[in-house]
Amino acid sequence: MRTLYTASQIADRVAELAARIEADHNGRPLLVLGVLKGSLIFLADLVRQLRLPLRYELIALSSYRKKTAPGELLVYGELPEPEPGEEVLIVEDIVDTGGTMARLTELLERHYGQSAKICALLDKRTRRNHHTVVDYAGFRLDDDDFVVGYGLDYDGHYRNLPYIGVLEEGEL
Ligand code: IMP
Ligand code: MG
Repeated sequence: MRTLYTASQIADRVAELAARIEADHNGRPLLVLGVLKGSLIFLADLVRQLRLPLRYELIALSSYRKKTAPGELLVYGELPEPEPGEEVLIVEDIVDTGGTMARLTELLERHYGQSAKICALLDKRTRRNHHTVVDYAGFRLDDDDFVVGYGLDYDGHYRNLPYIGVLEEGEL
């Protein structure tokens, strides 16, 4: 495992993202929609730094059912509904092809006529094949390395690492 971002680099970046989100929202209420399971740890750190009136809801989506190959997108349960006046901020661990976010923003638009902004800890742009704009990106990845830790998994493992690392040859 090669460390890509240490716990303290992540904490600094999360604080910067929170400051930007706060400045952009200027006290307006927010519905933060966390995508399970990968965003759980990022979400917990981020919302505790946001001095805004907010609610958070969790949605379970999964497009990676086995190992690293993209599968079909699965949506579990009901889509949380924004209250009048709330803006929606989706919090995701990593945006890769953009397919998951494209599908979720389309669902929100179709069901509730609501647009959403996207905050992703990692923005992996090499394999993007959907028009997905990451409004708030923690770190941009220019390689298509498979990363784990701080919520991100490989086949369910490594989510508990406090740092973000790249799995190396033989670990995948
Ligand atoms: P997308 O629909 O291709 O953008 O895929 C996004 C989802 O793929 C993320 O929510 C992650 O669950 C998963 N994913 C993509 N790249 C990685 C990675 O490098 N490590 C762990 N999960 C990843
Ligand atoms: Mg995910």
